[in-house]
Amino acid sequence: MVRVLGIESSCDETAAAVVVDGRRIASNVVASQSSLHAATGGIVPEVASRQHVRWIVPVVREALNQAGLTPAAIDIVAATRGPGLVGSLLVGLSAAKALAWGWQRPFCPMNHIAGHVYANWLGEELPEFPLICLVVSGGHTDLVAMRGHHDFRLVGRSRDDAAGEAFDKVARLLGLGYPGGPAVERAARDWLGPVPRLPRAWLPGSRDFSFSGLKTAVSRMVQAPDAPPSAAIAMAFQESVVDVLVEKTLEAADELGARCVLLAGGVAANGRLRARMTDSCGLPLFIPAMALCTDNAAMIAAATSYARDFDDSLAADAEPGLDLTTRVN
Ligand code: KG4
Ligand code: ZN
Repeated sequence: MVRVLGIESSCDETAAAVVVDGRRIASNVVASQSSLHAATGGIVPEVASRQHVRWIVPVVREALNQAGLTPAAIDIVAATRGPGLVGSLLVGLSAAKALAWGWQRPFCPMNHIAGHVYANWLGEELPEFPLICLVVSGGHTDLVAMRGHHDFRLVGRSRDDAAGEAFDKVARLLGLGYPGGPAVERAARDWLGPVPRLPRAWLPGSRDFSFSGLKTAVSRMVQAPDAPPSAAIAMAFQESVVDVLVEKTLEAADELGARCVLLAGGVAANGRLRARMTDSCGLPLFIPAMALCTDNAAMIAAATSYARDFDDSLAADAEPGLDLTTRVN
């Protein structure tokens, strides 16, 4: 039995979790800062780092308590090393290194995006390779092909805004508040009237995405004298994003001979995306439970459980711009 303590602090959640054998969540503690950042309408990095400093020790302690374990029962300590905000990353990474050193256990630095992908290994069934995973978060919209564990090939990505970033910016344009993704989804859910038409960037011949034109179109629609209600615009925006994400992901899965399709990242919590993907996907589809889509540490521990030959020297630094992989077409 391998018990991994995972720590995640790349953005605005302070999180720690214990995962057993890469499959069973013994504890999963997330302290969200979102109410703190709601006042400024977005994350102020220095404010986020300070909050991580306050919470990291109690959150780790709570993860051990909820798992009913003492430090002696932990086999590996893992933490996110990037991508993310450097001040935020450093808090979790330094805490994890200190614990690994103090407890004399291996330390595993983990990629945050790999963590999002591996949230799909925490469900009932296990995904099979080869597979396509759509990673849609606040910082990334990546189509990732995998032929084995930790074998990531980037086969498509957003050329401008990430899908989550577009949700957040549109929420701001519509005055819906922060965090933007859930606010847009809520507004769209209540709308029963006609849905205005917004553009879709198909980028024919490419597996890439683009959301900046859509954002500009929303901004123009909001400022027009006969602007539709914000709920109608929210729904039109969400439909446009979901259409492109679903269609291009399934096309890539088909072209590349994938055996299953995975969704990952904060935007995978979007009900409309989950429903449309479920309706349209002819292959086995994996979507993490809602709480495992947004940032958490169970996904970091899960990804660590499937990693081989990691450098446990404590030399790993925070890497705010860390890539999952180089691009392959
Ligand atoms: O993966 P995540 O928690 O953090 C990053 O690694 O970025 O993703 C956060 C992003 C935010 O942009 C947020 O607005 C979006 O995920 N998000 C959603 C929903 N819940 C979170 N977007 C659309 N619908 C949602 N229900
Ligand atoms: Zn994330």
